[in-house]
Amino acid sequence: MNQNCWQIQDETGFLMNPDPISDLTKVDIPLKTDTIAQLQSVAENIPPLIHSHQLRETLLALPVVDMAPLKNCDDFRIVERFFQIYAHFANGFIWCEQDDPLTYLPPPVAIPFVQLGHLVERPPIVPYATTALSNYQKIDPQGKIEADNLRVVQKMIDIPDESWFHLIHVEIEAHAANSIAQIRPLAKAILQNETQRVEEGLTIIASTFDAMMATFKRMPEKCSPNRYFHTLRPYLFGFNDIVYEGVAEFEGNPQTLHGETGAQSSIIPALKAFLGLQHSHGGLTEYLEIMKRYMPKPHREFLAEIDSQQLRQYVIDQQNPNLTEVYNLCLEKMVAFRSQHLHFANAYIASKVENPKGTGGTDFMHWLTKLRDETAVQLL
Ligand code: HEM
Repeated sequence: MNQNCWQIQDETGFLMNPDPISDLTKVDIPLKTDTIAQLQSVAENIPPLIHSHQLRETLLALPVVDMAPLKNCDDFRIVERFFQIYAHFANGFIWCEQDDPLTYLPPPVAIPFVQLGHLVERPPIVPYATTALSNYQKIDPQGKIEADNLRVVQKMIDIPDESWFHLIHVEIEAHAANSIAQIRPLAKAILQNETQRVEEGLTIIASTFDAMMATFKRMPEKCSPNRYFHTLRPYLFGFNDIVYEGVAEFEGNPQTLHGETGAQSSIIPALKAFLGLQHSHGGLTEYLEIMKRYMPKPHREFLAEIDSQQLRQYVIDQQNPNLTEVYNLCLEKMVAFRSQHLHFANAYIASKVENPKGTGGTDFMHWLTKLRDETAVQLL
């Protein structure tokens, strides 16, 4: 299918564009109207159903909906919204009783979800594309994509910390659009030896890091480390040996998939590649490659298109002090962003447990420190 809504746009970067669809009953969809209304109603009621311990029985009572007709949708946002709904059904079903997580997904959840996974070309589990990139609605439609002017489309537990956590990511993505918009034009400018244009583009990338950082620092305003750790995060974990009941292609074999994480955002991988940063292999670097499978396909293709040698080599060859200075400034800003990130990874997760593992399942403190330090030593 043409994943039109994931094409990278100058104004919105990797965010879904146009804005995500929140109300499926108002668009033209090749499924029965009452089925659409039923699915949407359950999705909207996930938080109270979890609260009243009725989510599992509600999901078990759903019909097994055939998602194949969605292949004919012109607007890919519709397919993504259904994927988002079933992704929340799946993670909700497994984790809603935290003392009693289950090891299977029942056919009414598993079968349509795997079908949708094929349509979106991603594994059937909640990814960052679902919690962040397509999980926002503007409050004032004329206003900007910024956390204070947004609400989420899909909630799992409905506490302010949950929405804020996701919306801070959305705002960071919106800022990052300015940087991402530089990548293709600068690749051309390098070929045409337009040093001044390259310098200007790198200045934009450096100042965009400042905007991203200012937003990132607002995370604790409405998302407390305790509530994130104890209430929201358990719903974002990966699946370890989960059986997708009734899914013929899995032949009853349990599936192990990674959980939702910012490592599935394309911003840092894109900038890292464009700036020509190298990292020693092992641990998190392999994991970061795997994370690409969880990104929307057009984003994976964009990352594959970036020439990771071109810019850095150009800056070295030019021996132009101004150009080198602004290139180094970008690296310093990347180091600062990764330091802030490390600080939050510690405050929100590592400080709370003896043997911390990320939602993606990594020994992250060691690896995040290494990525930050390896960035710092690559200044020219
Ligand atoms: C409180 C907020 C955050 C926490 C607690 C956090 C936590 C983590 C953890 C534990 C990892 C290790 C790998 C894993 O388990 O998946 C990770 C990786 C990563 N996160 Fe975050 N994260 C936060 C916010 C963000 C934001 C806002 C972004 C930017 C979009 C982001 C981007 C990344 C990236 C790109 C990686 C891979 C490592 C790298 O390339 O530097 N994270 N995060």
